[in-house]
Amino acid sequence: MLKQIISIVREAGKTVLSAHDIGSRTHEKTSAADLVTEYDVAVERFLREKLLALLPEAAFLGEEEAGPPRPEQGWTFIVDPIDGTANFVRGLRRSAISVALTRNGAVEYGVVYDPYKDEMFSAGRGAGAFLNGGPICVSEKPLAEGIFSMGTALYRREYFAPTMRLTEQLFERSCDFRRMGAAALDLCDVACGRVEAFFEYSLFPWDYAAGSLLITEAGGFVSALEGGPLPIVQRSGVWASNRVNRDILSELEV
Ligand code: IPD
Ligand code: CA
Ligand code: CA
Repeated sequence: MLKQIISIVREAGKTVLSAHDIGSRTHEKTSAADLVTEYDVAVERFLREKLLALLPEAAFLGEEEAGPPRPEQGWTFIVDPIDGTANFVRGLRRSAISVALTRNGAVEYGVVYDPYKDEMFSAGRGAGAFLNGGPICVSEKPLAEGIFSMGTALYRREYFAPTMRLTEQLFERSCDFRRMGAAALDLCDVACGRVEAFFEYSLFPWDYAAGSLLITEAGGFVSALEGGPLPIVQRSGVWASNRVNRDILSELEV
């Protein structure tokens, strides 16, 4: 199953790489900060068709097009066709395709693909996490010797002040931070040890479902920002880290 999902996602990556005239194919969803391109829709339709052909009994939750309501039990694909749409529109070349397959609410497979770097992150529950087929693991660095990344929860602007407060507290305890604009890849950076921790006050399941399995399979830790497991049906704040830094939030004002 994982191999087949990977091959479908790799194929979808070609659409992202071949994108052109993106500006004229971009539309506002709710505001100038909330964009969708014709490529987001095309990639989601492609994934819906191919993934459901692979597992016809599965439900499908994609960011762009609402489908029938999801049953609580059974298999569900959770898909972000382009995570980092604002980067994509601006030619910043940091965006990814994210696909998770859940069963009865637990993520069984997670795939995140950065077509620009040709980096395929994949994980199967209990089977480890991989980058282009090689095993990956989280770093062992304490935050004092490392960096964290964060997102600004831009669709929930009321979270900006708490985001800045938490950023300041973590910055004081670390070397530096980044805001790179694609949450699925931010989670993969933690999973493969490039970054020690990540947080964002509000994300959707399609942003974090695949990445959360990558982190746990890579030996890291992921939770809701206020603690507790990440929900797979509604949005949530997200905290992700290597093992050394997992409890650092308990010392901070979140
Ligand atoms: C967004 C990106 C961004 C994060 C936002 C997400 P989208 O996803 O992951 O980094 O800060 O909260 O919504 O809209 O580009 O798929
Ligand atoms: Ca996203
Ligand atoms: Ca998206």
